[in-house]
Amino acid sequence: AGSRSAYSIEDLRSRARDRLPRAVFDFFDGGAEDERALRANRAAYAGHRLVPYVLRDVSEISVASDILGKPSALPLAVGPTGAAGFGWRKGDIAIARAAAKAGIPYGLSTSATASIEEIAAAIPKGRRWFQAYILKNRAFTEKLIARARAAGFEALMITVDLPVGGKRERDYRNDFSIPFRFTRRNLLDFALHPKWSLPMLLRGVPKMPNLIGLDATATDSKALASSVGRNYDPSFDWDDLRRVRDLWDGKLIVKGVMRVSDAERVARLGCDALVVSNHGGRQLDAGLATLDALGPIASAVGSELEVMVDGGIRRGTDIVVALALGAKAVLIGRPTLYGMCANGEAGAIRALDILHDEFRRTMQLCGLTCVSQVSSDIFRTD
Ligand code: FNR
Repeated sequence: AGSRSAYSIEDLRSRARDRLPRAVFDFFDGGAEDERALRANRAAYAGHRLVPYVLRDVSEISVASDILGKPSALPLAVGPTGAAGFGWRKGDIAIARAAAKAGIPYGLSTSATASIEEIAAAIPKGRRWFQAYILKNRAFTEKLIARARAAGFEALMITVDLPVGGKRERDYRNDFSIPFRFTRRNLLDFALHPKWSLPMLLRGVPKMPNLIGLDATATDSKALASSVGRNYDPSFDWDDLRRVRDLWDGKLIVKGVMRVSDAERVARLGCDALVVSNHGGRQLDAGLATLDALGPIASAVGSELEVMVDGGIRRGTDIVVALALGAKAVLIGRPTLYGMCANGEAGAIRALDILHDEFRRTMQLCGLTCVSQVSSDIFRTD
């Protein structure tokens, strides 16, 4: 496979599909139910056209940005994604290193296949955010948060769009579950991908170390959806979020907000940032694209906290569009996963290089010389 000759995120996605068993690729690639939200996220970007300024000197431009008060090489962060180790051995560390090398923040998922401490050791100088779900076992949640603080994570990210797991039908059809099982239905798929399957058989399937101790099965865990149902707490509410705010003195990011009134409550609670997100179309499959939710939220609360957006960002042009609609920064999930699945750390680096190059080039083609110049004027023809 390799990733050197991949020129777009879509190229990396194809490489990932070639390398992985179908069931594993579909786990990363898929969304909930009819995948309308997944498609809507992408489609919303296609609905926005940029109108360039010409004859401006763009020989020297800067794409650097500030996120949560600290410098970032790009207005981009890597969002948290669980179970990356199923794509590549130590896949989480591969992505974390790629983010650190690219000079952008990395979000570690609670359900990652690397521990909080392993990530801190792998990227001691890299910006690290820890994403937590609120678990039924609140004491365990608090311990996770304390571990993140001890390991020097600068931000805590609370994901709020997953009171229950989304209905991800590709996983059901492919018999993809965690703990991972070879079943009669998926055996041929794995047999046809020995380069992926043999190491899994020999070294064992990846675990979710942050969940060790939660319950006996959580680490070798069950199907993600059912593990969500068992351990994550659907009763989590605004009072709980307030308690988290009181508990955590670092930066607090709320991920998964889609409406203005919720964004205003998040701002009132004194959170530092929110991410307009529908979990990459893996949860509620109702179709509202995150980009369409972004504008009103950014207008309402953008002066009080940092508004970020994720879902469907695959091109540098998409980053410009999101910034023009009011995002301070964007997050990506699948782009770095595809790169990692295609070629480990080199593939994840490739994904970030592609986005960096495209973003810079788009800025130059638009006649923009720094990130703060990006505004909704870029959509106007006058
Ligand atoms: C995710 N996402 C996610 N979000 C989160 O808060 N905690 C998690 O553990 C995960 N896990 C996860 C696994 C996989 C395989 C994917 C694809 C996504 C959602 C993720 O952080 C982000 O919101 C979306 O991936 C953004 O959409 P794109 O960039 O994938 O289109």
